[in-house]
Order: sequence, then structure tokens, then C-alpha cells
Amino acid sequence: MFVRDLWYFGALSSELKPGQHLHRELLGQPILFGRDHQGRAYALKDICPHRGILLSGGEAQEHGGETHVECPYHGWRFRTDGSCAAIPSLTADQAQAMDLTKIRTRAFSVHEDQGLIWIYYAGEEDADKPPALNPPKLDIPEGHKPKLVVRDVFNCHVDHAVIGLMDPAHIPYIHRQWWWRSASSVHEKEKKFGPVERGFSMLPHVPSKNSYLYRLMGEPQTEIRFELPGLRTEYVKAGGKHFTGFTAVTPTNENSTAITIVGYWDHWLPTLVPNALIKLGIEIFVGQDRDAVNAQQVGLAYDPKLMLIHDSDVQAKWYFALKRAWDKHRETGEPFKNPVKPASLRWRS
Ligand code: FES
Ligand SMILES: [Fe+2]
Repeated sequence: MFVRDLWYFGALSSELKPGQHLHRELLGQPILFGRDHQGRAYALKDICPHRGILLSGGEAQEHGGETHVECPYHGWRFRTDGSCAAIPSLTADQAQAMDLTKIRTRAFSVHEDQGLIWIYYAGEEDADKPPALNPPKLDIPEGHKPKLVVRDVFNCHVDHAVIGLMDPAHIPYIHRQWWWRSASSVHEKEKKFGPVERGFSMLPHVPSKNSYLYRLMGEPQTEIRFELPGLRTEYVKAGGKHFTGFTAVTPTNENSTAITIVGYWDHWLPTLVPNALIKLGIEIFVGQDRDAVNAQQVGLAYDPKLMLIHDSDVQAKWYFALKRAWDKHRETGEPFKNPVKPASLRWRS
């Protein structure tokens, strides 16, 4: 249902102060994202193994230098590695006779960098194996932190969110607005693509002249990378400076997908505009995508046959081919073979 054995974007660093945690649903699983009292991020399956209440309803406490999450129902406490540290109702001799560390909730591998908290999602059967991949890293200068965050929720399966966001043909229809594109600016385009590790890249190019914002930046070079599971990064570089927009498309469950857009920059142009205004522009943009995929669900409920055409839907075809290749790699243990070949795609948008 969802691609596994991959790093997923889980939360923003800014969402968690030491000793805090939050609940989030990811890939249909309840997850507790927390930060221990020493400042390290962690993630647990957000279910108490005693009687199934969400652990995130309880508080994080410090016991002997360790952070424990206390279950709100009967007070069992869990370490950040998922093992049980205490069952308050046990008498001393009962506690002696019991190996509490055998009681556990699943702990996930996490990685925190560039203001993002990543979680490695392996299947239940591989829950104790360490990650087989390095976590993703954006190609931005060391120490750059998010300057802007936009979040949205699409009421659709992750596949429709991913292909809806990468699809160039909807732009003149869904995103028509005076400050971005005019209806008469549609023209033929040709973009070069090539494979990257677990995805593909629209190779660095000078973006189309028909967008007002791009022209203002002064002949920038743009590269757009897509990688499994649903990570899209747009790098705009001009005069040694950058503007980087990272989008994480994370499945909440089968019918809901979280969109998180994080902006990083040191280019002068965005600093001229109040952050709130940039944020509003992106919110309008993403809201248009959300309204389109939400409206699409009415039709999809009838389970129609769908089409992917050349060349405007080739990126969507690659996405599905990448998912198949990744599943094959996981099932057979053979090295992952990226199915994307260098290509030049043409469309009108
Ligand atoms: S349900 Fe968690 S301690 Fe009982
Ligand atoms: Fe869009």
C-alpha cells in the first residue's frame, strides 16, 4: 500500500521542545514524535502495549537522567527506545519476578537535520533492523534553517497527491493568477530529465520566461528533484545564492496525505517581501492543488480507468515505475535499479 524501507518526513524540528511530544498518523500508523530532555528526537508507536490507549496523551518525565513517557491510563512508563521502565501497580516482589524490558512499544529510527525530523519506516517484520539507507539531505549550505513552512492536507491517496504536484499540464488551469501566469503565456516547453538516486531530476536549466517572479530573480538556474517516497525539492540558484523549496508528501493513511513545504534561502529577493506574503502566495498555490485533488475524489469514487499520456504524464509514469522497482528490490534483495533513463520531455503549459 505504501512504499517501505525508506525515510519519511515526520515532523519539523521546531515542533518539539525538550520533554515534549506530539501525536501524528503516518502510513496508517499512530506515531509519537518526541524530544528527550537532552534534546534528542525519538519516535515510538503511539500505542500502549497494556490496553492500547495513545501514549502521547501522557507526559514525558525525567527519571534518573532518562526520558520516560508515562501512559495516561495506568501510569506504565516507556523509555525512548520503546522498552517499559516501570509498572506502578506492581508490588516489589512482583516487579522482581518480571522482566519489564520484554514489554515494549515499537521504536523507530529517526534522524534530525536541516530543521527536519525523518523517520525510517520498515515493515513490522523488519521493525528491529537498522535503516538500510542514509537519511535524505538537502543540497543547501550547512546550518541553513527553514525560513518558511506551509502545511496542507489533501483528502486523497498519496499517489494522487504526488502525481498531482509534479504534473505540468494542470498549471495553466489550476494555477491561473495575475501575479504568476497569464492565460496567454502557455507555450511549448522542452525539459531535460535524468535519473538521481531513488528518483529523477529536471536537470538545471534557466526557467521559462513566462513567469514574472523568476524574471525578477535575475536569470536563475532551477533544478527540480523528485525522490521516493514523495520528496520534491526545487533548487533555484542565482549569483551564488539560493532559494530552495522542499515539499514532503507524506501519507497519513489511505485517504489522507500531509503536504509540508519548507523554504530555505539566502537570496536577496525573498527578503524584500514580508514572509507572511510569501507564505500566503504558497498557501494559495497549494490550496489550488488541494481543491483539485479533493474534487477529483468524487470521480475516483466510481473507480474509473485512468490514463497517463506522453509527454506531460511521463513523470507520473516514472513515479509508479520507481515504486515498482523499489518493491522488487525489497522483495528480491537485488540492488535497486532506477528505471528512469535520461530523456527530453515536451509539453505545452
Ligand atoms: S493502558 Fe497504558 S498503562 Fe494501562
Ligand atoms: Fe499544482
